[in-house]
Amino acid sequence: MNQEQAARRIEELRREIEHNNYLYYALDRPEISDSEYDRLFRELLQLENEHPALAEADSPTRRVGAAPLDKFNPVRHSVPMLSLENALDPDEIRDFDARVRRFLATDEELEYVCEMKLDGAAVELVYRAGSLELGSTRGDGVTGEKITENLQTIHSVPLRLRPPFPSLLEVRGEVYMDLADFRALNREREETGDMPFANPRNAAAGSLRQLDSRVTARRPLKIFCYGVGLVEGVEDLPTQYLLLQQLQQWGLRINLDGTRVVRGVSGIIAYFQELAERREELPFEIDGVVVKVNSRALQRELGEKSRAPRWAVALKFPPRQAETVVEDIQMQVGRTGAITPVAYLHPVEVSGVQVSRASLHNWDEVARLDVRIGDHVVVERAGDVIPDVVRVLTERRSGDERPVAPPDRCPACGSPAARIEAEVVYRCRNLSCPAQLKEAIKHFASRRAMDIEGLGERYIDQLLRLGLVQNFADLYTLTLEDLFRFERMGEKLADNLLQAIAESKTRPLARLLFAMGLRHVGEHVARLLAARFGSLDRLAAASREELLAVHEVGPQVADSVLSFFANPHNRALLEQLRAHGVAPENEAVARGTALAGQTFVFTGALTRFTRQDAQQMVERLGGRAAGSVSRKTSFVVAGAEAGSKLEKAKQLEIPVLSEEDFLQMVAEKEQI
Ligand code: IVH
Repeated sequence: MNQEQAARRIEELRREIEHNNYLYYALDRPEISDSEYDRLFRELLQLENEHPALAEADSPTRRVGAAPLDKFNPVRHSVPMLSLENALDPDEIRDFDARVRRFLATDEELEYVCEMKLDGAAVELVYRAGSLELGSTRGDGVTGEKITENLQTIHSVPLRLRPPFPSLLEVRGEVYMDLADFRALNREREETGDMPFANPRNAAAGSLRQLDSRVTARRPLKIFCYGVGLVEGVEDLPTQYLLLQQLQQWGLRINLDGTRVVRGVSGIIAYFQELAERREELPFEIDGVVVKVNSRALQRELGEKSRAPRWAVALKFPPRQAETVVEDIQMQVGRTGAITPVAYLHPVEVSGVQVSRASLHNWDEVARLDVRIGDHVVVERAGDVIPDVVRVLTERRSGDERPVAPPDRCPACGSPAARIEAEVVYRCRNLSCPAQLKEAIKHFASRRAMDIEGLGERYIDQLLRLGLVQNFADLYTLTLEDLFRFERMGEKLADNLLQAIAESKTRPLARLLFAMGLRHVGEHVARLLAARFGSLDRLAAASREELLAVHEVGPQVADSVLSFFANPHNRALLEQLRAHGVAPENEAVARGTALAGQTFVFTGALTRFTRQDAQQMVERLGGRAAGSVSRKTSFVVAGAEAGSKLEKAKQLEIPVLSEEDFLQMVAEKEQI
């Protein structure tokens, strides 16, 4: 394919992918299967790799994140991003409507648009000539921060508008996270030793404020757009509702399902009550209804006062709060030694859910709230089933309340607890702390890690109580006699358990790596590292540069891997695992036939790995890397600016892979 043909095909593919993105992300109405979509996407990736001159910043392949920034730059919004006044009950909505009609000097019932008020982070997207040029946070409304790279990673943010589009469009919306995604993210963060987010709003805002957009790319963010700043090159639309529909046609994601045009106060209240009931079933968190005068002409006439428009108001749901008593504050020791405070509550119902525990997050939060054992508190559910303590009712104190100090010792093992600079958590630094050990073994044996069936909390407790394991590698030393020391342990049960432990020795490297519980190494990162390094030994020997060269691996992960393998305890652990035959590297070598008989040629500028690394990856799987292209070549892997070898491959009709394709191929083979 010559350059001209490639350019045409690339444009065709981009349009087709964009169209399908639109159907999938903006309209939630996909028309092709995932595998058809993948095929288009791969073809585009491959063509862009072969023709680097045709790469474009707004291509749909550019959503993986870019090189990290060292700071955010300020962005001045050309039209300030206003905030909203709140109305807390139907009476205040009546007041709002009365104010609006007084200002407009009209007795007639007005038409309003009611939109769901999503609880996320407000952003602005600027499209010039249809291309996303700039993305920013709301900031103080006048000046925000430039987060273009981060917003580009969100699939429901179009990189190009659908024609015919205006010459300039500044569109505003809310970036948010679905509740299910939020909970999964927090589960993953707990597994990797990161602080969970308090609620979906913090998760969304925190994900947007990442200097490394590759981190943002992995966060399940979505956007709903609800308004505009400057728009040039099209006629203004007469109503807010038509504007929303027009924005959707330009490719933006609009919550039309949650939007209704109503008449007068009674219409607003009816919709508000309807939503209050639907609220619990929605996939995302909303905190009320935004009511806007529908007519854009009337909006202009009404204008704004101080920082909020006169033509809109937020009618908030009552918070999901309840009062109860803190019966105890306990310290919980996690797998990474983090000692976190948990409030045990007198059970209370909060909007239909019975709660008996509240998250206090960290000791700064305990100090800020000044919460004590015996306190009457207000708890609130905000997106999570586990509520937060929002306020202490100090006026109800009797004087018998007992404050809790941050730990100076680990509650489980008594060793000193230290607060690490730049972290809000206190940690127990004792590597063989029983509480940490219990969590570590629970994690090691869990279904998505080594999947040791039957090894639940009850048995783990007994293993620790009897001193049978000091670390997860000791699991492989257990004998029938050991297990017979358990309470109520029969022969059959013990046999099964030993069998399950033995079986886990064959788990692939990625699972073992995840199971070992390195900080910041979740399932996904474990898979990347396994695919790239192929064995624990090679991973242990990797330099910082080599780690950082793995796509999606940032400094946090790299440093965590380095410090893990630098620790002599952990080195000894690896030796112990190996001695028991838990060494997926040997298996990988033995199995190394996945690419047997295949010859690879690498050409062009490789950015995801070095030539030497690539060669190793191929050889490990039984393949061969060669220097020149011939009829015997099975695949050519082409980076940017590939030249004659690529031409030759095309002449000989040898399949050409992008670096990404190649990594995927290796990862797939490693997982056999
Ligand atoms: S309109 C002039 N519409 O609520 C109009 N805001 O307190 C100002 N929000 O910062 C905003 N959903 O982050 C509008 N459908 C919606 C909204 C919405 C959520 C947020 C937005 C804004 C805050 C206003």
